[in-house]
Amino acid sequence: MPFTASSFADAGIAAPSREDIVAMARAWYEAQPVPEFIPGQTYIPPSGKVMDGGDCAALIDASLDMWLTAGRYASQFESELAARFGLRDAKLTVSGSAANLLALATLTSWKLGSRALKPGDEVITVAAGFPTTVTPIVQHGCIPVFVDVDVATHNVDVAALEAAIGPKTRAVMIAHSLGNPFDVIRVAELCKRHGLLLVEDCCDAFGATAGGQQVGTFGEIATLSFYPAHHITMGEGGAVLMNDAKLAKICESFRDWGRDCYCAPGCDNSCNKRFNWRLGSLPKGYDHKYTYSHVGYNLKVSDMQAALGCSQLGKLDRFIAARRANFAGLTRRIKAAGLEQFFHLPEATAGTEPSWFGYLLTLRDDARIDRNAMTRILEDRKVGTRMLFAGNLLRQPAFADVSYRISGSLENTDKVMCDSFWMGVWPGLDEQRLDYMVDTLAAVTRELAGKDIDGAAKRAALPVLNQER
Ligand SMILES: Cc1ncc(COP(=O)(O)O)c(C=O)c1O
Repeated sequence: MPFTASSFADAGIAAPSREDIVAMARAWYEAQPVPEFIPGQTYIPPSGKVMDGGDCAALIDASLDMWLTAGRYASQFESELAARFGLRDAKLTVSGSAANLLALATLTSWKLGSRALKPGDEVITVAAGFPTTVTPIVQHGCIPVFVDVDVATHNVDVAALEAAIGPKTRAVMIAHSLGNPFDVIRVAELCKRHGLLLVEDCCDAFGATAGGQQVGTFGEIATLSFYPAHHITMGEGGAVLMNDAKLAKICESFRDWGRDCYCAPGCDNSCNKRFNWRLGSLPKGYDHKYTYSHVGYNLKVSDMQAALGCSQLGKLDRFIAARRANFAGLTRRIKAAGLEQFFHLPEATAGTEPSWFGYLLTLRDDARIDRNAMTRILEDRKVGTRMLFAGNLLRQPAFADVSYRISGSLENTDKVMCDSFWMGVWPGLDEQRLDYMVDTLAAVTRELAGKDIDGAAKRAALPVLNQER
């Protein structure tokens, strides 16, 4: 029988209250069975979300509002995020990639006068990482300048970065790689000395610190991702962090269709002069709600996403602690299995406390192991693996026609592209899974050791990249 509005009355019972429905959603989620882990049969993903009844309840609560677009939960999550970083503003958006796009777009605003990035300006970055840290640079007509990374920290080589600074350099935009901070203290100093803008991509590093200070608070703008693989999730989502009211207003404008108006969804006349502005060559009094100061996007979130963000944020510290413990657990097991002779193990950048995203292993050249064979077998045996994302971005088809400059060599970037992969440290892993991951890694390593050509010889056969295009 279909369930209708009159079903409760017909059955002589009270309709459930909103609180009942939210409580039932929580209880339903908590009653779901947890699948058993069977070593060798249950796949161990390299990343994943950790949800609970509270998340389900928050999602249903936001849905019952039927507000749908950014609302009370979005405001709450933005305030809580900004407070967590001790920053003035956090602007929610649909993904970490959107956050990076908005961060770079913000720095191009005419409202920044001579500080604004212009087409042809150089932005220093690295090629070993996620594409959308770099693509906003290209999309805005700026020139990415690539410098090499260090193998152990898989982060930017700061000496190479310093050497890359030239007369056209205007900004630095780099990610804290897999949760391990780059040496952001030195980079921020360099930026200050040379008058460069700094964008920290913290999508993989929520909660990491450098010198006791949170990453994301060193530059002009920072970004976060809330995709399920990340430290906390909104399903899809991201945020842009800033400590400057002007930047925040510009960022919001780019996010919200490019408009000059800053009314929240559903609000009117926050500026108290909605029909009194004279902007551009519009007639005086043209509705501010439909006045555009930037060539913008619509990258706003829904309130259901934001509700999930609020609920997940309360668990962030526990998640970060679990990630750190799993990282330490993998290191202990890998060393105990004698695997250090085959791999460069990941190291925290000196003076920092990472908030690990993944455990990056890089095969030593003399191990003579083919990385692709290794990850294929690990996957077959149910241990999930990932590349350091794009490896060397410049070797990706998408970058075939992109203008760029390389400063120095990208030797380590190629090394990471050819010989690195990462395994999970996410909070869904337990001791049993960590044991299986390292036992399997040890078995596969011993099966493959010595069977391939030397890694250096393999890299030497790669096409040579032009230093500039
Ligand atoms: C460093 C880095 N930046 C940006 C992103 C993009 O985030 P999203 O998937 O939310 O667009 C990712 C994705 O994992 C990432 O690793």
